[in-house]
Amino acid sequence: MPNQYNKEVILIVDDNIITCEVIQRNLEMAGFHVFTSNSVNDAIEILSRQDIDLLITDYKMPKHSGLELIKYVRDHFQDISIIMLTGYGSINSAVLAIKEGADEYITKPFTDKELLDGVKKSIQKQKEKKIDPETLYNDPWTRFGILGQSQNMIDVYSKIEKVCKNDAIVLITGESGTGKELVARAIHYNHKTRSIYPFIPVNCPGIPASLFETELFGHVKGAFTGAVQNRKGFFQAAEKGCLFLDEISELPFELQAKLLRVLQEKEISKVGETQEIKIDARIIAATNKDLADLVDKSLFRQDLFFRLNVINIDIPPLRNRGNDIILLAKHFALKYGKELGKKEPTFTDKAISSLKNYSWPGNVRELENLIHRGMVMNDKDHIDTVNFPDTMKFNIPYDKRLNLSLEEMSKKYVRDVVEMTGGNKAKALEILKIDRKTLLKKLK
Ligand SMILES: Nc1ncnc2c1ncn2[C@@H]1O[C@H](COP(=O)(O)OP(=O)(O)OP(=O)(O)O)[C@@H](O)[C@H]1O
Ligand SMILES: [Mg+2]
Repeated sequence: MPNQYNKEVILIVDDNIITCEVIQRNLEMAGFHVFTSNSVNDAIEILSRQDIDLLITDYKMPKHSGLELIKYVRDHFQDISIIMLTGYGSINSAVLAIKEGADEYITKPFTDKELLDGVKKSIQKQKEKKIDPETLYNDPWTRFGILGQSQNMIDVYSKIEKVCKNDAIVLITGESGTGKELVARAIHYNHKTRSIYPFIPVNCPGIPASLFETELFGHVKGAFTGAVQNRKGFFQAAEKGCLFLDEISELPFELQAKLLRVLQEKEISKVGETQEIKIDARIIAATNKDLADLVDKSLFRQDLFFRLNVINIDIPPLRNRGNDIILLAKHFALKYGKELGKKEPTFTDKAISSLKNYSWPGNVRELENLIHRGMVMNDKDHIDTVNFPDTMKFNIPYDKRLNLSLEEMSKKYVRDVVEMTGGNKAKALEILKIDRKTLLKKLK
């Protein structure tokens, strides 16, 4: 549903014409629209031209079996739920059917009630499947374990798909909390040959300048006081895998030259050793800064920037991902609900519109923290704006704010604050930090 019949549509496949007719009559009386077919081939033909919600198929049929039909349906139509009819005592075929993707099985002979219960159950299951965020990982909504179906994210997925097939250096850019590391891992773990080798994240600002070479290239025993044994650096640890240079903008200027040399020559030498070692690690770098701008300000080496910026994947901020915001919010609500032993809450309309209108400077991480806090603090089974910080409660869509003048924006803001405080002017004055006279003027 929805379809032209305004009813759930069921396809029955059984080589026994009488069985088909009996089931059809029962289900039509129960309010369903029913197609029947006496062979798998016919059924496939019907599936190609009709939207079917539920398939009920017999197991044993001449030519092609019900099992083959289930395989076909699972390959071509994810959303159809499936009931397999099996003969009495053939638990094996029931198990096989479930393995191939059937949702339910009903053993013959069955009563009208057993049939109807099975049908209702699997249609319910199908509906839950469509809305349950937990199953999103099997849906086209997520790619590579990244949640989101907005066009902006689909563009990111198609880039990931391309770079998985080669070893080019990738520069991932995006505001804080947009999922840069998530994307870096997705590139690595979907690479055709590298994925079985390590993914080594290096937090550039975390390495003291004095230890940069030992950390990245390793050292040999006795290279300096304290070097009591040979040690591999990050580059060698990432051999055949991927080295993820996170927050690359924070790398001190003098170390940028050293890194550049390694990227050009693909060779390192350990501290305390002259011998060069070939390295084979895929390099992915990430930053939330505008590197081109840092280059202009002479804070980042232009030659290193060019070397890193071969392929750029720019991750859109959360506010530009449309309904993904709600998708993610529900996903986190389910996740933390489970952890806390709570039910997945519903979101009030007001909460949904606040989530959509907020600018999300901290992006997905901020959203996750907000929902986590909401789930901890909230005893109700719905999430409302009471759990949100004040800054989120204003109902001006982010993109519309860009069309307002400062004067209009300020009036709107004042009205929102007054509304939010439930008309409590003293509270509004406290938030706005203006005097009563100005407030009254603005409200006029
Ligand atoms: N599309 C997404 N689907 C599911 N989880 C996501 C998504 N994007 C980000 N997250 C989650 O949000 C958090 C932040 O993501 P990540 O660490 O990859 O961001 P980042 O861009 O590297 O942030 P920073 O700039 O602060 O380093 C992580 O817990 C990550 O799993
Ligand atoms: Mg990060």
